[in-house]
Amino acid sequence: MFRASAPGKIILFGEHAVVYGRPAIAAPFNRLQATAVVAPAEPGQGLLLELPDVGDRVMVDGGATGQPLALVAHLALRVLRLDAPPDWTITVRSTIPVASGLGSGAAAATAIVAAMAAAAGASLSPAQVSALVYESEKLFHGAPSGVDNTVIAYNRPVWFVRGVAPQPFDLPRPLTLVVGDTGIASPTSVTVGDLRRCWQAEPARFEALFDAVGQVVQAARRAIECGDPTAVGTLMDRNHQLLQAMGVSSAQLDALCLAARQAGALGAKLSGGGRGGNMIALARPERAEQVAEGLLSAGAAHAFATQIQ
Ligand code: PMV
Repeated sequence: MFRASAPGKIILFGEHAVVYGRPAIAAPFNRLQATAVVAPAEPGQGLLLELPDVGDRVMVDGGATGQPLALVAHLALRVLRLDAPPDWTITVRSTIPVASGLGSGAAAATAIVAAMAAAAGASLSPAQVSALVYESEKLFHGAPSGVDNTVIAYNRPVWFVRGVAPQPFDLPRPLTLVVGDTGIASPTSVTVGDLRRCWQAEPARFEALFDAVGQVVQAARRAIECGDPTAVGTLMDRNHQLLQAMGVSSAQLDALCLAARQAGALGAKLSGGGRGGNMIALARPERAEQVAEGLLSAGAAHAFATQIQ
């Protein structure tokens, strides 16, 4: 048996504008993980993908497929030079909630590729894994920027610009984040598609919003590198306002961001696709539990503190 895991991810700054070429900062979220296990199967079975969390099982038959995780397994066969699908059962389990902005699809795909490589006795670079996972992201998302597959495949904080080699981004000090879950599933493809229609209708207005996000992300990089959490928090608030103006926030996300600030957070913003899913708040470590309690009192389905480093 061969097992591999991949983390979820948190976008700290720059979601949505990153689709339009502006930078983003993202980090792995190791508290949540997707795990894939490859087990040998009866001769003649072929390659079976078991997805018990979503009650699905798919044969990876070597043909084109519309199931994103089956597609990534199919593409991995080629890269691993496995001409015929081997008799394997790959079982994927995940603690990352689906459609919540935490990278569940990219994490499951990364775990599958890594477990298949281990079973084939091969080693793939993060760039190779990221490129394979990007293909499955296209089916999940439509026109993804590539930030999710990059941060998860590299498993370290990154400064990401679409189409440019990712730069690993070292945090001089850990950031304490509190993640608050609205409990509302919101497929990223829907928010990304809605925003695209708005941008097509009013390109100048939306380009100006994306430029403003780009400036916030640049300033956030400097504030993180200088170890200035107060400035990072203020920039998170500013990024959230710009996401509101783009129409990708929601009443629940806004209420959780406000509750986090009232409970002592240094700043808060939605994280990921928006409309539902998760928000993040930056807290001083000694305030993190209080912020998590504030989020739960304001209606968060879950809230927990984590350190990004
Ligand atoms: O997968 P999510 O919901 O975290 O969203 C990814 C970030 C977006 O910028 C909204 C989309 C993208 O392709 O970058």
